[in-house]
Amino acid sequence: MADKIFYITTPIYYPSDKLHIGHTYCTVATDAMARYKRLTGYDVLFLTGTDEHGQKIEDKAKAAGVTPQQFVDNIVTGERGVLDLWKLMNISNDRFIRTTDDYHVRSIQHIFRRMYDNGDIYKGSYKGKYCKPCESFWTESQLKDGRCPDCGREVQDAEEEAYFFRLSKYADRVRDLLENTDFLEPASRVNEMVNNFIDCEGGLQDLCVSRTSFSWGIPVDFDPGHVVYVWVDALSNYITALGYGNDRYHDYEKYWPHAVHFVGKEIVRFHSIIWPAMLMSLGEPLPRKVYGHGWLLLDGGKMSKSRGNVVDPYILAERFGVDALRFFLLRTFPFGSDGNFSNELLINTINVDLANDLGNLVSRSTAMVEKYFGGVLPGTGDLDGELPDMVRALRGRYEAQMERYQFQNALDEVFRVIQRANKYIDETAPWVLAKDEAQRPRLAAVLYHLLETVRVCAVLLTPFMPESAEKILAQLGADESARTWESAARFGVLPDGVTVRKGEAVFPRIDAAKELAELDAIQEAAKQAAHEPKIELEPYATETVDFDAFCKSDFRAVKVKACEAVKKSDKLLRFTLDDGTGTDRQILSGIHKFYEPEQLVGKTLLAVVNLPPRRMMGLESRGMLISAVHRVDGEEKLNLVMLDDAIPAGAKMC
Ligand code: ME8
Repeated sequence: MADKIFYITTPIYYPSDKLHIGHTYCTVATDAMARYKRLTGYDVLFLTGTDEHGQKIEDKAKAAGVTPQQFVDNIVTGERGVLDLWKLMNISNDRFIRTTDDYHVRSIQHIFRRMYDNGDIYKGSYKGKYCKPCESFWTESQLKDGRCPDCGREVQDAEEEAYFFRLSKYADRVRDLLENTDFLEPASRVNEMVNNFIDCEGGLQDLCVSRTSFSWGIPVDFDPGHVVYVWVDALSNYITALGYGNDRYHDYEKYWPHAVHFVGKEIVRFHSIIWPAMLMSLGEPLPRKVYGHGWLLLDGGKMSKSRGNVVDPYILAERFGVDALRFFLLRTFPFGSDGNFSNELLINTINVDLANDLGNLVSRSTAMVEKYFGGVLPGTGDLDGELPDMVRALRGRYEAQMERYQFQNALDEVFRVIQRANKYIDETAPWVLAKDEAQRPRLAAVLYHLLETVRVCAVLLTPFMPESAEKILAQLGADESARTWESAARFGVLPDGVTVRKGEAVFPRIDAAKELAELDAIQEAAKQAAHEPKIELEPYATETVDFDAFCKSDFRAVKVKACEAVKKSDKLLRFTLDDGTGTDRQILSGIHKFYEPEQLVGKTLLAVVNLPPRRMMGLESRGMLISAVHRVDGEEKLNLVMLDDAIPAGAKMC
């Protein structure tokens, strides 16, 4: 057992918004890997958690009018928060770390001090660019078209006293690690890291690892005006959660460095350059592997709340079931590459793979045992060649793919066997055999082939769809010994006289057109709700206005007695106004695009009344109505200033 230790982690998530299907993708993949390793007999520790510090969270809390701690507590432990989501998705993590946990805070202070004491952290002054949403510092040369190279957003100038980590000192060792080992996978990400960050102009730069301009972070204990850079805080979670630098846990010796970090591709830089360098500085061993998976895209772009294109895993899991969603995520997209999410794809995968191929195989097999043998299969009969051989070979083929984190390929292997078994039913035509009493032993043997095939496939599907695989195995009457990893390499494990119980369909077929229409409507509404309109204001005046001159402007309340569109003009409205003098005042205003005349009759408006009279379209205008103007998403908006109707016509504004 000593060599069968496996430590697997997800990134720790920023609880700055609700998690979406992209986050769920990574966690489900990690969960499948953890369950697979447990199945194969490993002692597994599976860690996930939340990354709760940083300016982004401080800003969001402020906007929400709560403390940062209240803000993150709500997203992590509140209703439909991070913990609820992982429970819903049947995530089997052994530990959950929050970077606001006391023990983690103490460990980070210890780690920071150790790197300072060994000379790898020094004080300097930071001058450069900072991307707030990514919480990343950049040098001028690292920017792409003057913007953040990760997210493409604008960066800000930043200068402050700060501590620096001697990342540059580790450039050669990190390059060697990346180029000459399989530390980082897929291998296609290695060149990008080396070329863009190590062998780039200026080489690998020292890293700014403290901030003084905000306070929501872990204080540097020997210099409390500074908080630890959020990535130093976050990356260290992988060891603090094992008890490194604290006495909350005592698992470091056991699980480190048998670690695999699953992370999204945009944070590979942190995990494959900064993290190993930090560990080198601490004199600790490096994790076995960093695997940089691709993104789930929607409409061709990365999901993000600000783009309003996030897919809510709750909605999908509630409609289609947790297992169907888990399966879809790992069956459809190659783990190392980006994939385009769509509702069509999801529904199609459920219908084709789960309802049709797997669901049919299970229900036909169990139904026939019930129908022809009352649920109890007598004798196992002679084995045919091809199907048993294929099933016996399946575990090895599946394992080869799982060990390379190729979930999609592993599932391909399983489904190839499922499809073959469905064909076997057509070839052997049990319903024909059933008509001939003399063929009963053969009929039993055929059905036994099916049950055994389903059993092995269900065992291998357990990491992906734990509940459904369990249901299928229960229908087959498989006991514990027929559910093990060892039993998945053997054909002929179910005993003579096994009792089968056909249950409800595990994966009912979905009415694609109906579901699609409903889902599209829900997602469109969410998109609309999430869209934050871009508001543009008119530029402020740069010249001052003489006070006495301004005071000469005569602002009055006016009441609209009548209003009509000016003939032959698209823009102009003609107002007949009561200005309190007893004589009607006529004002023309080019606002027809924004108001229909009948909307304005009876309203109390604001007008400047001592402008020189102007003629427009042959009519005289004596004054100007005051409006508020701005643009929303580039579109011009105008609102007449409306006064309280209790204000009498002619009242002077001053
Ligand atoms: O990066 N498709 O947190 P995070 C696939 N706190 N993966 C996606 C995705 C998508 N559409 N959107 C997000 C952080 N992810 C840091 C990590 S680790 C020490 C600190 C993945 O909440 C993303 O790639 O922004 C990342 O791996 C994870 O979700 C957490 O993202």
